[in-house]
Amino acid sequence: MKVFVVGANGQTGRQIVAKLVAAGDQVTAGVRKPEEQGVIQDDQVKYVLFDLEWPVAQIAKTIAGNEAIIFAAASTGPHFIRIDLNGAVKTMIAAENSQIKRYLLLSAVGASQPDQTANPYEDFDLAKYYAEQWLMHRTQLDYVILRPIYLTNDAGSGQITLSHSDTTDSPQVSRENLGRVLTALIHHPELSQQAMTISDGQTPIETALKQFK
Ligand SMILES: NC(=O)c1ccc[n+]([C@@H]2O[C@H](COP(=O)([O-])OP(=O)(O)OC[C@H]3O[C@@H](n4cnc5c(N)ncnc54)[C@H](OP(=O)(O)O)[C@@H]3O)[C@@H](O)[C@H]2O)c1
Repeated sequence: MKVFVVGANGQTGRQIVAKLVAAGDQVTAGVRKPEEQGVIQDDQVKYVLFDLEWPVAQIAKTIAGNEAIIFAAASTGPHFIRIDLNGAVKTMIAAENSQIKRYLLLSAVGASQPDQTANPYEDFDLAKYYAEQWLMHRTQLDYVILRPIYLTNDAGSGQITLSHSDTTDSPQVSRENLGRVLTALIHHPELSQQAMTISDGQTPIETALKQFK
């Protein structure tokens, strides 16, 4: 599948690109800095300049021709509204304007009930909450929202827990496991219009996805 990765040079973004390539997908990796193009050298990866500060039309032109979008960007600094909310929503509008149906959003576990979390990153959760709301209620996209708990750079165990609630088996999830799950979701079109909380766990990824209802 042709997949555009937003935030492709982030810590999770690099995992996603690597796993998509391993799965045989064609990846367009959106990055802000020209010197970071080519971090992963492979015929299946094309790096392009991409910035969430761009207007929707420029974003749409850049992502056109892909079949799926994975949003893995995060604001650096307190730009939750500009990047995590407005930037994400612009990619959703641009996806629809470019006839791209599949959209995978990396959100956050606190986003489902942002008023009830005691999270010091409360504004981040609120930005993710409203990005989710737009995706669920203002688009016709074929979406999956993945809500991770705290991310680590541990080696991926290949075993996770998916849940409808905010309850998790583990206080963390590895970025490598996230990369695997997002890649698997590209190949599970039956999982659509769903929001999943994810942590490291005891269930193999494929089994967890098949069991999620
Ligand atoms: N960290 C956590 O514990 C945690 C918890 C829950 C959810 N999440 C979510 O999980 C995802 C991955 O997180 P991470 O910690 O792996 O990410 P990360 O390493 O911080 O990478 C974030 C990426 O976003 C890119 N970015 C920032 N502003 C941008 C802009 N204006 N236009 C385009 N790209 C931009 C950055 O680009 P540059 O490389 O150019 O700086 C970077 O590559 C994010 O969506 C995050 O919100 C994270």
